[in-house]
Amino acid sequence: MESVTTLDDLPLRTNLQGLTPYGAPQLHVPVALNVNENTHPIPEAVARDILAGLAEAIRSVNRYPDREFTALREALAQYLGEALTSDNIWAANGSNEVLQQVLQAFGGPGRTLLGFAPTYSMYSILAAGTDTTWIAGTRDADYELSPATAVSQITRTNPDIIFLCSPNNPTGTPLSLETIAAAYDATDGIVVVDEAYAEFAPAGTPSALTLLPGRERLLVSRTMSKAFAFAGARVGYLAADPAVTDALRLVRLPYHLSTFTQAAANAALAHSAEMLAMVDDIRGQRDRLVVELAGLGYAPHRSWSNFVLFGGVADPQQTFEALLAEGILIRDVGIPNHLRVTAGTEKETSLFLDALARLGRPIN
Ligand SMILES: Cc1ncc(COP(=O)(O)O)c(C=O)c1O
Repeated sequence: MESVTTLDDLPLRTNLQGLTPYGAPQLHVPVALNVNENTHPIPEAVARDILAGLAEAIRSVNRYPDREFTALREALAQYLGEALTSDNIWAANGSNEVLQQVLQAFGGPGRTLLGFAPTYSMYSILAAGTDTTWIAGTRDADYELSPATAVSQITRTNPDIIFLCSPNNPTGTPLSLETIAAAYDATDGIVVVDEAYAEFAPAGTPSALTLLPGRERLLVSRTMSKAFAFAGARVGYLAADPAVTDALRLVRLPYHLSTFTQAAANAALAHSAEMLAMVDDIRGQRDRLVVELAGLGYAPHRSWSNFVLFGGVADPQQTFEALLAEGILIRDVGIPNHLRVTAGTEKETSLFLDALARLGRPIN
């Protein structure tokens, strides 16, 4: 063939023209601390049980999976507690898909989605994919979001949907229940609290799940990708009023959760305690990152997640490349003079901190 067709030659939807896809580098390096994965493999005994579940599942793979993923919804309701039942639960292939389905059901042409930037980079991409208009709100100093700051922007922009990331990615910033409740009261639209990293908050921190009773437009999304060390399995979920799950049934593809996905997730949830055993350790490494980054002269932000955003980086691209040359992959999230690093195992975290220390002094 003479000429290669490019994107520009295709009749792409107008609102997708000129956009770039999500593209965190996937490099095979010894120390990958760039996409907030749980760097601990799942425990061997749990892995054996999951394999047994998968072996059983393959015997029925000639049939479509349970379209209602009934056992999985029950297991997720039990895991979350808060008197939730399977009627309150929805799940999909990662919380990215859950959020996409929310936008398919409640967003779309002529509708708007408000988020408070800097926030999870997929929100605007999911908005574009569903032809929902993305509104980038702003935050207070140190990326905090007070009730007043949230409410004033909601009142001004009157969005159809609000995504509140709690704790926020890429900054790690916690979000108070007061801000969530105030945001809810300030809108007639859908409010999603994205709790992808909720399990890394200090023990005993109340979740937005506690706000669900009486708030039928509030959705709390979670994932098994982070604390559960299940990123490769692709299981995200949400809790909400049963009417919300009915709305999501209108847009989901039939049989969207494969037989294998359901079997693996059910087996993992039967071992929640073991699956979550590493959370304490990861919290410890996160807190260590904050202390030691400050000790090196950088400016880490407070974090309730499994990663730390730190300022004081003279040239983020240069530091990123220098670390990569040593086999350590972290993330340049596009915030001037900042980089983000995921808390790894003790060894991975040490390798990162030692390499950074060797690079010399940060800017003041
Ligand atoms: C805030 C937030 N929400 C959702 C996700 C999506 O996770 P998954 O699709 O693996 O459930 C991520 C992943 O990094 C995230 O940081």
